[in-house]
Formats: sequence, structure tokens, C-alpha cells
Amino acid sequence: MKNKDHRNKMQRTQELKEQIIKYWDKAGICSFDSSTCTGDPYLASCDNFIESCLIEELIEKECQKDALGIDIGAGLGRFTVVLARHLNLVHSLEPAKNLYYKLADNCAEFNNVKLFDTDFESFNTKEKYDIAVVSGLLYLYPDTMVYEFFEKLVNHLNSGSLVVIRDFIVKSEIKEVPSVYIEGGFCYYRDLQYWKGLAKNFDLFLTEVFQSKPSYSFNRLLGLCSKLGLTRIFSMNTVKKVLLRTVKIKKKRGTIDFSSGIQTVFIVMRKK
Ligand SMILES: C[S@@+](CC[C@H](N)C(=O)[O-])C[C@H]1O[C@@H](n2cnc3c(N)ncnc32)[C@H](O)[C@@H]1O
Repeated sequence: MKNKDHRNKMQRTQELKEQIIKYWDKAGICSFDSSTCTGDPYLASCDNFIESCLIEELIEKECQKDALGIDIGAGLGRFTVVLARHLNLVHSLEPAKNLYYKLADNCAEFNNVKLFDTDFESFNTKEKYDIAVVSGLLYLYPDTMVYEFFEKLVNHLNSGSLVVIRDFIVKSEIKEVPSVYIEGGFCYYRDLQYWKGLAKNFDLFLTEVFQSKPSYSFNRLLGLCSKLGLTRIFSMNTVKKVLLRTVKIKKKRGTIDFSSGIQTVFIVMRKK
């Protein structure tokens, strides 16, 4: 009976993993700047500018030039290219075939990027990495899958290496919201306590958690801009720089804006 339960659980995990990949393969990602299939391209370009700057700063501060990095679930490669500009070698994993081909195009100019058209769970490697980036993946994973993911990940990290997760967090009470696009699947919006506990479980230091993009707290103005088709102002360099400053101030102060309930953050952990 126990064995049967275990087999069923494993099968469900495998099915969910495949469903998630199938979703991304079909839906695609709307632009190189984006992490999702829909959305305003100008806002995405603004968010990507800020998120890429923050990741770049982290790499410059924390990684050696001869470091080996891994981008797990690279999508179109917006973070792979940032890693490639600073590291000796980057392994970029993307299991959705339609995204993988585009990722290959986007990374063609980098001879220090090695691409793998596989999911992380099936990835067969003996390498140990100095930095791992996991963006927009774990919020679709139930706790057991996150746990198994981390079990594998920490085995492939050098001591002192960094794990950078970009995910959603909530202030209190973890939210499990049925996914509108993955049948039987959920979006898991976890709290800081969850990530602290996970880090502790795997002997990692949770070093930082900070907002990855602006709050756009001027929501009414944003709505109006959107109606008038003016959201392209977010793609302007000066606007991007001003918004980057606001995010950096929050990071320095250690504040996260939860006014919209859920916030996108970078969660940084270090292997002891
Ligand atoms: C929300 S997208 C984020 C893309 C990119 N990391 C970004 O932030 O722009 C999630 C990506 O993870 C990939 N993915 C899904 N399941 C995966 C798995 N088990 N292993 C590796 N990548 C996976 C998807 O195909 C998709 O490209």
C-alpha cells in the first residue's frame, strides 16, 4: 500500500512537471524582456531592466570571473546573457522546445554559454556551480517538489556559492491559488518564513530578500496610462533609471511593498 502511494505520488509529480513545461512550450514568452506569456511590453522592458541590473550587481559583487553559473528554466535567456557577460561559463537549461530554439538564437553571440534542452530534474551533470538562478519556476511547485528540487540543487553547488531565486512572496498566510492554465495545478505564494525554513533545512544562509521590480504604487496613473496607450513611457531610459533607484532604496532599507498582496522578489541564499 505504502509503495503504491509512493508510486502514485511520483507519477503525479512527473505529470505536473510535464504539464508545466507543456504550458510554457505552448504559451511561449511574449518578449525577450518578459518572464511571462502576456503583459505590457513596455512595463516588461522596464521590469527586466531593473531585474537585470540587480542580478548584474549581485554577480559583480559576489562572483569570481572564473565562476560557473547555471540558469534553470532560462526562458528566452534574459538572465543567461547577464550571467554570460560576467562569468567564465554558463549552463542554461530550457526544457520547452519552442523556447529553447529562441534561447539558442538569443545566446548565439556568447561562446561561454552551453545550452541544455532539458528540465532540471532530468539534467545529468557532475558539475558544481558557483551561482544558480531560478526565476519564475518554483511558484508552480508544491512543497514536495521544491524540496526535491533543492535536494538536487545543493548537491551541485560549491561551498560559498549563491542561489538566486526570483519568485513571489506574501506577507502572511501562504496562498495556494488554483492555476488557471495548469489543470489541477496551483500557484504557491509563499512567505518569508517558508524560504527561511527551506534554507535552514538545506544548510544554506538566507542572505537577502528584496523586491525585484517597482511597485507601481501609482496604480491609478498606471491604469490611465494603459488606457491612453502611454505605457511606452516605461521603456524610456530616464524612467527606468528613476524606478531602479526606488527599488534600490527599498533594498537598502530592507522594505518590501506588500500593498498589492503579492510581491516579486529575489531570494538570495549562500551555501555554507
Ligand atoms: C516564468 S518562465 C521564466 C523564464 C526566465 N527564467 C525569466 O525569468 O525570464 C519559467 C521557465 O521555466 C521553464 N521550466 C519549467 N519547468 C522546468 C523544469 N522542471 N526545469 C527547468 N526549467 C523549467 C519553463 O519552460 C519556462 O521557460
